[in-house]
Amino acid sequence: MFKNLRSRWKVTGLQLLFVIATFALGGSLCGYIGRKLLDLFNIEKAVVWVIMYVVIITTLWPLCVVAVSIPLGQFSFFKNYLKRIFSRLSGGNKTMPEDKKINVAIFASGAGSNALAVIKHFSDNKNILVKVIITNNAAAGVIAIAKNAAIIYEIINPKNNNSQSYLEVLKKYKIDFILLAGYLKMIPANVIKAYPKKIINIHPALLPAYGGIGMYGMRVHDAVVAAKERESGITIHKVDEIYDNGEIIFQEKFELSANETADTLAAKIHLLEHKWYGKVAEEAIYKIHNLV
Ligand code: GRF
Repeated sequence: MFKNLRSRWKVTGLQLLFVIATFALGGSLCGYIGRKLLDLFNIEKAVVWVIMYVVIITTLWPLCVVAVSIPLGQFSFFKNYLKRIFSRLSGGNKTMPEDKKINVAIFASGAGSNALAVIKHFSDNKNILVKVIITNNAAAGVIAIAKNAAIIYEIINPKNNNSQSYLEVLKKYKIDFILLAGYLKMIPANVIKAYPKKIINIHPALLPAYGGIGMYGMRVHDAVVAAKERESGITIHKVDEIYDNGEIIFQEKFELSANETADTLAAKIHLLEHKWYGKVAEEAIYKIHNLV
């Protein structure tokens, strides 16, 4: 159950403790104030009392929880949590028409297992559509994934790695957000400029360690194992003009086992990537588009 909550709310184990404590303390505070307020009206504990209690509690609860969340350092979590609840109650959760959805492009050069996980994650999303897969590699496994999922794909000529060829494709499909999933070409600066904070990448190690030019795929895991690191993990970060350098928005790590090899490490990393990339990407997309 705690694992599910952690993954649903995207919090660490420690933060989950604080969040639960906030719910508990906020709830008790709300109940206490509710009863005190009702005492002022001197109403007998009967049906009217219960109805009024429920009304007061429902109104007070968000305030109490937010008040408690501040000293417990959970204000930002509860601000978003309450936003989501209010949006649902006010019908903000309706499915957008297809032409109004936020269009996402996935860039991939290889097997595309992350692309597949992201496609699955967004398959029934009401607001986000994986519109196109972009690759520089005509032999990439991700092309078969695009075909199976009935998603359009475009091959950018690797010799033509200039901003114009990208911007044309991105314009053609009205792309709002870009997810890099094992894309091995440098994204031209003009594309980054055209998508401020709207391009994110997943990296199979704990950046800033084991990142930069030449650090991709098995090379990363070989280096981590060779250095006898005690832990590794994944990083999801915004993309800027420097390889693996942009602001980190998410990391998840684990301890390496005593007999870890680059292959076993790669398999563990892939599982973690598939678990998190869609969720973290969804949150980043919602945030930049001011959706909850
Ligand atoms: C992933 O490990 C990702 O972190 C990195 O490239 C790899 C792509 O793997 N950027 P796949 O093609 O998604 O299987």
